[in-house]
Amino acid sequence: MPRILDGKKVAQKLKDQLKVEIENIKLKFNRTPGLAVIQVGNVAASSVYVKAKTKAAKEVGINVIDHHLEESTNQNDLINLINELNNNDDVNGILVQLPLPNHINEEMVLNSIAPDKDADGFHPLNVGKLSISQKNDESLMIPCTPYGCLLLLRELNVDLVGKNAVVIGRSNIVGKPMAQLLLKESCTVTTVHSKTKNIESICKNADILIAAIGKPEFVNKDWVKEGAIIIDVGINRIKINEEKSKLVGDVLFSEVENKVSAISPVPGGVGPMTIACLLRNTTAAFKLKNYN
Ligand SMILES: NC(=O)c1ccc[n+]([C@@H]2O[C@H](COP(=O)([O-])OP(=O)(O)OC[C@H]3O[C@@H](n4cnc5c(N)ncnc54)[C@H](OP(=O)(O)O)[C@@H]3O)[C@@H](O)[C@H]2O)c1
Repeated sequence: MPRILDGKKVAQKLKDQLKVEIENIKLKFNRTPGLAVIQVGNVAASSVYVKAKTKAAKEVGINVIDHHLEESTNQNDLINLINELNNNDDVNGILVQLPLPNHINEEMVLNSIAPDKDADGFHPLNVGKLSISQKNDESLMIPCTPYGCLLLLRELNVDLVGKNAVVIGRSNIVGKPMAQLLLKESCTVTTVHSKTKNIESICKNADILIAAIGKPEFVNKDWVKEGAIIIDVGINRIKINEEKSKLVGDVLFSEVENKVSAISPVPGGVGPMTIACLLRNTTAAFKLKNYN
């Protein structure tokens, strides 16, 4: 039987640790880390994510400052708000929920977040630091989803050194930083994408396979090596019938589970880890500012 990587449980462990850390911070500084959450418009999935992130932040004692802006908000006003938050000492982390409306340039907005408050780890300076640093330095602002994947892998207590790791997907928020993190764990890393030739055979060579594609149940048993470790990042909603739908990953779990040594489920795998890592980044930002 494969080991099912229970993201809810691992995320809860991280949140429990953060809660204690934040209690100690409160005793020492008489204040708690602050996270500003900005949502522009009313995309339903974004509202769900913002609600989950806000709830989790409050649970661990992070002070959440909510900014829910109109869909019609212009880019300058959004950047002005971010500048205010950059200069607000009560704010340690700033999260801009993506996607932004089409009339706003996402890159310019993300670049306007002060790097030391970049709770998502998307600012070019933090991307550069992640790329340059030799090891997975816990003081870095690391993109939350790939960092969550790494923490799930660490739960297995397997030696990652020299393992063949294949990352499917090369996005800035998942695929690329995931490859960086695995490289620093001394894995031999291959990144594959929609233009890769012989993708199936490359994946079949993977000791560790990370699927971040955005295509429901795309990776089947023929892509997977016997005994591999699978992290499924995908979140896809599929229709069961006219009334019902369900969430599935990028991996065909029912087919693959009997072939692998460990696999993360969807839901309940990477998703909760992403949220916990956002809280970790916010707390790390507070510590970097106040303990040095
Ligand atoms: N669990 C979480 O917390 C969490 C967080 C973020 C994202 N996600 C989920 O993770 C998935 C990926 O997210 P993302 O933001 O990285 O998506 P994205 O920006 O759309 O990137 C998808 C990547 O998959 C590659 N791809 C697409 N079709 C492919 C194919 N047929 N064969 C091989 N590669 C293919 C693309 O290649 P090209 O670059 O060549 O187009 C691209 O690099 C989505 O399901 C998303 O919902 C989950």
